[in-house]
Amino acid sequence: MAYLVWALLLLTFMFPALVESMVRHYNFSVVMANFTKICSTKSIVTVNGEFPGPTLYAREDDNVLVRVTNHVQYNVTIHWHGVRQLRTGWHDGPAYITQCPIQPGQNYLYNFTLTGQRGTLLWHAHISWLRATLHGAIVILPKKGVPYPFPKPDKEKTIVLGEWWKADVEAVVNQATQNGRAPNISDAHTINGRSGPVPNCSSQAGFTLHVENGKTYLLRIVNAAVNDQLFFKIAGHNLTIVEVDASYTKPFKTDTILISPGQTTNALLTADKATGKYLITISPFMDTVVAVNNVTGFAFLRYKGTVAFSPTTLTNIPAMNATAVTNAFENNLRSLNSKKNPAKVPQSVDHSLLFAMAVGANPCATCINGTKAVAGINNISFVLPSTAILQAHYYDISGVFTDDFPAIPTNPYNYTGNLTTANLQTLNGTRVYRVSYNSTVQVVLQGTNVIAPENHPIHLHGFNFFAVGKGLGNFDPNKDPQNFNLVDPVERNTIGVPTAGWRAIRFRADNPGVWFLHCHLEVHTTWGLKMAFVVDNGKGPKESLIPPPADLPKC
Ligand code: C2O
Repeated sequence: MAYLVWALLLLTFMFPALVESMVRHYNFSVVMANFTKICSTKSIVTVNGEFPGPTLYAREDDNVLVRVTNHVQYNVTIHWHGVRQLRTGWHDGPAYITQCPIQPGQNYLYNFTLTGQRGTLLWHAHISWLRATLHGAIVILPKKGVPYPFPKPDKEKTIVLGEWWKADVEAVVNQATQNGRAPNISDAHTINGRSGPVPNCSSQAGFTLHVENGKTYLLRIVNAAVNDQLFFKIAGHNLTIVEVDASYTKPFKTDTILISPGQTTNALLTADKATGKYLITISPFMDTVVAVNNVTGFAFLRYKGTVAFSPTTLTNIPAMNATAVTNAFENNLRSLNSKKNPAKVPQSVDHSLLFAMAVGANPCATCINGTKAVAGINNISFVLPSTAILQAHYYDISGVFTDDFPAIPTNPYNYTGNLTTANLQTLNGTRVYRVSYNSTVQVVLQGTNVIAPENHPIHLHGFNFFAVGKGLGNFDPNKDPQNFNLVDPVERNTIGVPTAGWRAIRFRADNPGVWFLHCHLEVHTTWGLKMAFVVDNGKGPKESLIPPPADLPKC
């Protein structure tokens, strides 16, 4: 007995973090709730009646248990966007990829450990478009006693950006799916659930960020919007970027943040200006002809001691097509790559893939124009199966998916040449790309000009990747890799692919399971711009997917 006590004491002494990690319990009750926004009231799907939903707080190494109980009429799943889910793919959340949905009246216990991650992430529903209102932030603090690699802020504030439709969002997407057209754009952008004044509703209040002069704040900014990449600005203040997608970056100052759906950004704000009110804006980035909600969302930075009716300092809102602003921001993003936080960039590649991403049109007799909008990767529109792929993979159920997803386009074309209707049509398929455990994968995400070029924020589940290169036009496999950054490229889980350009990412497939890759603009995901990787088990004891939990929902 005494030995045991000594051993425990010794352990505590040697590995304080190991012993101090906690189990965090959360209850997510999915319920309808009424909200009044932009001068009308509607009933929305929420977690615990909150919009945005509750912030999930934990520390690195903590075990998180979230009981999700479904009290609404829709099937529900929750995805912990950016959480690596090492060997715990059953708890990742994308419907029909890693689990069957939680049906009305049912519940499921999500159970995962936050290994090797600290920073800000988000959770959101991962079925149909429910994530429009079912989302919230995840805050992962460093292990106890481990400081941030930047000066400790006086306070932390979570800022969740969203998109609001006056209409019922599920009705919007269902109608579009039926008539084959693009779904209606949203009506407002929200900052912590508030839009500020919008056309025809000037009384709508905006969120207020209260600050005190002389203090520094860590803003944890989450873009939970459905289809809009956003510019974020605070009048008169620079922001110092220190982390994106729960990976530390080399700090840099900027007056404008670009943040795509699914991305998170931690920025330091020093309240060092005159007492008063300063406008905060979010506005869309769209540098092509695609229709987008161009209503600016407003919030206010307010210093303590500001008198009522004091004027608000305004800011220039970036043009919707301000590509140069996005480039300046993205080119500054670099991994911190310090001794404590090294960037482990794969230096060699086992699988070299080229994914051409396009929006197209397929014939559809029942649709309004006889065609329906589709999207795909390498001309394949991914179709969700009716059994989860992870289950089919684990239990060896045949007929659910095939593992012949093409590594490169089967009919190559000039991807960014003259606007083309040549490769307009896609094939339907539930095809995955299979890799062995611990192999290294490079994906060149190639934008195309089919119908219209467009910036696609691509998200990979189960991994962080390194964004080693980007360019305009077609990727050149002979020249472009010479300019790759294999030292300190930014590490993230979601990244924009330049309009009519490409982006190269690399990751190590060190997480067995089935992992979704898709455009995080929900409209494109719906149209089929998605695929999945299957990573086989390795040989070692810690290299296999854990068995499924007993309460895993059934289809
Ligand atoms: Cu944030 Cu597959 O999603």
